[in-house]
Amino acid sequence: MKMKNWQVYGHDHVPILIHQYASLESTNTEAIRVAQVGAPEWTVIVADKQTQGKGRYERRWLSPKGLGMYFSIVLRPAIDLQLLNLINLRSVLVVREFLQNKIYSTGNHQRSEFLVKWPNDVLANGKKICGILLESEIVDQKIQFLIVGIGININHQNRDFPEVLRDTAISMRMLTGQSWEIEQLIQELLPLYQMRYRMDQETDHQNVVSEYEEYMAFKGESIEIDLQTKKLKGRIKGIDPFGFLLLQQGNKVQRVTSGDLWI
Ligand code: BTN
Repeated sequence: MKMKNWQVYGHDHVPILIHQYASLESTNTEAIRVAQVGAPEWTVIVADKQTQGKGRYERRWLSPKGLGMYFSIVLRPAIDLQLLNLINLRSVLVVREFLQNKIYSTGNHQRSEFLVKWPNDVLANGKKICGILLESEIVDQKIQFLIVGIGININHQNRDFPEVLRDTAISMRMLTGQSWEIEQLIQELLPLYQMRYRMDQETDHQNVVSEYEEYMAFKGESIEIDLQTKKLKGRIKGIDPFGFLLLQQGNKVQRVTSGDLWI
């Protein structure tokens, strides 16, 4: 059941085409479907709620109406497959920048610190406020499309999160004491995303790594990475030129391509 189509114009007046639904299983699943039948780049699928929101590692992303922002962007990056992860990192950086600007504009800046947790979470005061799930279709080493699925906690109060998340999740409302108009936020976030993405295209994605390291949580700290099959311990050294994590283990440095990071 589609509610409406609308557009916003971003950098260089490239239109962003938004398809908004009252409810979807998952905006990522719908974005994959439309991308497979030829949807152009900058098609965005938004849902007021998701019934089967997807998280990383087959986890669920709880997505009740009115509490979170749930959307997926269709991109068709003409880049080497090796650089794909840098778009992942850029996406987190854009959300980090956006949330910090919004919260600071309310005058609450002393209380809030916005960082990125490798690879793709945004943390506010050490708690998760945003998760990002990238899905792509690759044929013969060429990217057919990339779906950037973004979930942001907006109007949750602590009790709205399931009990297991109450110590580790946070929302814009919890940071500011006010509720936020979700559609308005999407309208502001998408042009910023497009601007940053196009700047990266013009600079061959060269600035992502240094910006990411600037805002990276737990840099230099001892952490544990859950690789599903095994766990790795070490100290975060930084990010390599392809966006992978560099983990210092004694005098050797291990390159980690994916995983869940814990301190
Ligand atoms: C994670 O932290 O595990 C990633 C969560 C990503 C959630 C978003 S909500 C919009 C989009 N549609 C989905 O089904 N998932 C992503």
